[in-house]
Amino acid sequence: MFHTLVLFCFCCWSLTGVFGAETNDIQSVSVTEGDSVLLHTDSEIHKDDEIQWQFRDKKSRIAKISVENQIFPTRGVPDGRFRDRLKLDDQTGSLTITNTTTEHTGVYELNIHGAKLTTIRFNVSVYAHLPVPVIIRDCSSSSSSSSSSSSSCSLLCSVLNVSDVTLSWYKGISVLSSISVCDLSISLSLPLEVEYQDKNTYSCVLNNPISNQTTHLDINTLCHTCAGTTALMILLFMHSFT
Ligand SMILES: *[C@@H]1O[C@H](CO)[C@@H](O)[C@H](O)[C@H]1NC(C)=O
Ligand SMILES: *[C@@H]1O[C@H](CO)[C@@H](O)[C@H](O)[C@H]1NC(C)=O
Ligand SMILES: *[C@@H]1O[C@H](CO)[C@@H](O)[C@H](O)[C@H]1NC(C)=O
Ligand SMILES: *[C@@H]1O[C@H](CO)[C@@H](O)[C@H](O)[C@H]1NC(C)=O
Repeated sequence: MFHTLVLFCFCCWSLTGVFGAETNDIQSVSVTEGDSVLLHTDSEIHKDDEIQWQFRDKKSRIAKISVENQIFPTRGVPDGRFRDRLKLDDQTGSLTITNTTTEHTGVYELNIHGAKLTTIRFNVSVYAHLPVPVIIRDCSSSSSSSSSSSSSCSLLCSVLNVSDVTLSWYKGISVLSSISVCDLSISLSLPLEVEYQDKNTYSCVLNNPISNQTTHLDINTLCHTCAGTTALMILLFMHSFT
């Protein structure tokens, strides 16, 4: 059972044609939230040029970012997510967003209106910090499931409240199973069944396109937790009567 590769993917939709058809020249930038992102251009801004940054996120709201670092919301939606976070280089038009949040994910477009119109696009992905996956023994499963023998141990690897991640069980360096989630913020659990005597190394890995968090499985410690808890309770119970 645990040699099969299970791959689920909830809700993957793509962001296409955000600024019309001409999305051929777009630079991709990925960062972890809290980091700064530099949208770098080699352009040369002339004295009379007018420059304007536009931002469009997954929810299709537009923020216009003017030269004076002011944000002019359109469609009447006040947009505070850029307040005190922008630095504009008036020599090149490069824009720095400091202390990013996942709310800054989206497509950014720089328009330089000079002798001719120059347009530069960036596709920015800001990923949340990854939590450390937690492995617990699934006591309910091992006692009720008829398929598991008495020498096997059922485990669950879980993470709370994640989006744009893949959670996987590894045996050594090969993937046994994995589950992926895109945009939603949900909790994920992935089961694994091992034999008590299994000497392989197992690990549970949570990753997004730019980072990962790994928890190694300690069979000796975890696979005695259910029995251990009962024994401990009996011990405590007996202790309270002495
Ligand atoms: C970064 O932004 C968060 C809110 O998203 C805020 O709580 C924190 O104080 C900011 N950190 C810095 C260094 O500005
Ligand atoms: C932006 O990057 C993300 C992640 O790499 C990708 O899924 C998306 O399709 C890209 N969007 C555009 C408009 O290129
Ligand atoms: C889940 O994540 C969202 C956004 O990332 C956050 O607003 C919410 O408070 C989180 N919930 C829990 C239970 O951590
Ligand atoms: C986790 O990230 C490190 C670098 O940060 C990389 O060396 C390693 O291969 C990654 N592991 C997995 C399972 O993706």
